Amino acid sequence: MGGPGGVGKTTVAAALGTQLALEGHRTIVLTVDPAKRLAQALGFKTFSSDLQNVPLPHTQESKLFASMLDTQRYFDKVITRFAGSEKQKDKILNNRLYRIMVESLGGSHEYAAMERLLEFAKDSSFEKIVVDTPPSQNALDLLDAPQKLANFMDNSVLRWFQKTKTPFSLFRHGTKIAIKLLEKLFGNDFFKALAEVMDDLEGMHTGFRDRNLEVIQLLKSQATGFFLVTYPSEVRFTESLDFIKALKEKEIPLSGVILNRIEKEFPKEIPPSIELPKQEREEIEKVLTYRSELVAQQQYWISQFDSNLNKIPQIKLEKRSGPIHDLETLSQIGKKLVF
Ligand SMILES: Nc1ncnc2c1ncn2[C@@H]1O[C@H](COP(=O)(O)OP(=O)(O)O)[C@@H](O)[C@H]1O
Ligand SMILES: [Mg+2]
Repeated sequence: MGGPGGVGKTTVAAALGTQLALEGHRTIVLTVDPAKRLAQALGFKTFSSDLQNVPLPHTQESKLFASMLDTQRYFDKVITRFAGSEKQKDKILNNRLYRIMVESLGGSHEYAAMERLLEFAKDSSFEKIVVDTPPSQNALDLLDAPQKLANFMDNSVLRWFQKTKTPFSLFRHGTKIAIKLLEKLFGNDFFKALAEVMDDLEGMHTGFRDRNLEVIQLLKSQATGFFLVTYPSEVRFTESLDFIKALKEKEIPLSGVILNRIEKEFPKEIPPSIELPKQEREEIEKVLTYRSELVAQQQYWISQFDSNLNKIPQIKLEKRSGPIHDLETLSQIGKKLVF
């Protein structure tokens, strides 16, 4: 499930998962940032990333499972897996800088989501895994995350820092102010901590790389389907075409494009038979005009999607009146997604 923030990825992922489970598949929804009430509907009492069974109404043995992505915890797990020894693991996990790096590393949420997918995919007791994607600025972040991480590990500037180890040689290069600033931000032992974390991450390259390859293989495989959640507007249309192109270049199959929040047709004016004070009539007419312009705009962009997507299946979901956080509504939406 991919697409820009706010278009409905989390909702659509939850809807698809709920419906798949209701139809008898043992399903995991890996959700990233559900709104509070949706999280409650999925049974998350506290924010926990542990896999849990979600009770479904009128169902004795629910086949729906949910998990919440916790990037920091997940990176800790990855480090634990790749670290050469218990000592090395503890050293990294206790390094303050490592925490900051995970937080600030672009694409770390995406990477964690892909990692978790890989882990679930290896568990054969589950038939379907629906992965929500993190709220990135750009939908392409998801596809670039593994490469970005690999680049980060190879980053020559960091390697140079690592080699330098002490700030003294840098002082000679006239970067005193920058260093002072960094040390102000991160504490006096910034360089020591940086050198340490780079030393410790060294040797984990192969581990990261192999996992990246596995993730990419899984994304490309027949078992995976990618849905793009988007909205009928000019910005989203252009962005969607770029995204579809990028998927194609990476040979990742696209299962469908979901156009979400489509406005229902609405009367354009108040029938003359309805009597209203002039001012009220004018105010309501303003709203109706706005609505009908929005509908017309959406219809135009829907037709653009129609004529440009060729054979890619499209699913159109209407805008509902309120936020979506009950399993009944999720299942109704889900029915449109399972085909
Ligand atoms: N078709 C829809 N009709 C009405 N509200 C919707 C629809 N799809 C999503 N929403 C609402 O929009 C908000 C953002 O949705 P969400 O799924 O969290 O988006 P994303 O994960 O892409 O950021 C939520 O409050 C959700 O209930
Ligand atoms: Mg979301």
